[in-house]
Amino acid sequence: MVWFENTPRYIEAFDLKQFNYSMLTRSQRVSHENLRLRDKQWLENMEVHLAQRHLGSEQSEPVPPMFLPYQLREMSLDNRVAVSPMCMYSATDGMPDDWHLVHYGALAKGGAGLVYTEMTNISPEARITPGCTGIWSDEHTAAWKRIVDFVHQHSHAKFAMQIGHAGPKGATLEPWKWDPNILDEPLPEAEQWPLLSASAVPFDSYSPVPKAMDRADMDQIRDEHVAAAKRAADAGFDMIEMHAAHGYLLSSFITPVLNSRTDEYGGSLENRLRYPLEVFTAMREVWPADKPMSVRISAHDWIGESGITEADALAIAKAFSNAGADLINVSTGQTSHDAKPQPGRMFQTPLSDLIRNEGAINTIAVGNIYEIDHVNSIIAAGRADLVCLARPHLADPNWTLHAAAELGYQGPAVHEPHQYFLGYRQLYTNAERARTSAE
Ligand SMILES: Cc1cc2nc3c(=O)[nH]c(=O)nc-3n(C[C@H](O)[C@H](O)[C@H](O)COP(=O)(O)O)c2cc1C
Repeated sequence: MVWFENTPRYIEAFDLKQFNYSMLTRSQRVSHENLRLRDKQWLENMEVHLAQRHLGSEQSEPVPPMFLPYQLREMSLDNRVAVSPMCMYSATDGMPDDWHLVHYGALAKGGAGLVYTEMTNISPEARITPGCTGIWSDEHTAAWKRIVDFVHQHSHAKFAMQIGHAGPKGATLEPWKWDPNILDEPLPEAEQWPLLSASAVPFDSYSPVPKAMDRADMDQIRDEHVAAAKRAADAGFDMIEMHAAHGYLLSSFITPVLNSRTDEYGGSLENRLRYPLEVFTAMREVWPADKPMSVRISAHDWIGESGITEADALAIAKAFSNAGADLINVSTGQTSHDAKPQPGRMFQTPLSDLIRNEGAINTIAVGNIYEIDHVNSIIAAGRADLVCLARPHLADPNWTLHAAAELGYQGPAVHEPHQYFLGYRQLYTNAERARTSAE
């Protein structure tokens, strides 16, 4: 029903073939592979059509949509799969170490076109937990550079750093230490550091009360974001993302759930966006012009009309896009423990669809996307430009290489490490056998 209510969006954004594909898959129940079962020739024509559009030249062979390349400024991605930012809570004093080298190295070798770091913090006080990584000194820059160099030397992946400040959600225990009934459980009082937020609103009844930021705090935090962006450039990252989601510091300004200010930074959405836009603009100024920059937003608070809803999501995305964001990473929620999301498969993707096709803005979809079929359907239906997978990559860092083998794809969008070629030769042979016997 929502699709039919919004048909003008798709008429404007798509050519006829993609419009048809979008309509056929509108409920997200009929998927890419399901269309292949119904009409193999039609689906292959669609894959050739998309390949032609994205690769430019005349194409005769179908390409799985996830294996189409993507370009943002001077950054070229081999394919549309991204490893979503995921905290490891395993650093000491914010320093990434051997764990992070092996972890990100494995993810980069796994075939995804883009790998994100975890939320990496601009100061010790900006951390969520004592184990969160940081980028506030030359030592941090050097430690990250070692990992960036590995990724660039040994894989085709591009590497993005997510930069953030935990705001009212800081000074918590690492999640595996939480009492299962206490979400975002605070550190013991003696180990807490002072928190900052848009307003002096504790995240939960048991959370420490943050200080409402004054102008001096705002200047300092903006400058720390800028310093972090410069350090990320020095470390050699291909992209940075400003974290403005999930109830952390910049999100605490955007969502009315956490912002009760009465000055020019509170009240209307325009006011609530003012400070996050100021920080974004200052970071964009020092981040190299040939490299892209994304922003992660919470496009819905899942608490009804008193929180962020669809109409706000589009306005937020447009504001960052107008300020120079190349890509909006469309997440939702985590701004209140009272939220009631319905986290079915691909549950946040309709918000990416809205922002991309109504706002003409590049987006990443994320959230409960875990099948090859999900990724192909999202890309082919134009619901996002890229697709972030988080938990699937923890279970399988080689998710993309395995997807390629399962689909029998051997084109330029994936590169298994040459040291592993015998393993992948066997995997492709076995996958081919499984496909043939299933037919
Ligand atoms: C262990 C873990 C750590 C996470 N840390 C971050 C983070 O640092 N920054 C962020 O924006 N999202 C973080 N997330 C959220 C994920 O990026 C992603 O949005 C979410 O898990 C939904 O995707 P999935 O269904 O593919 O797991 C984290 C998720 C997990 C599972």
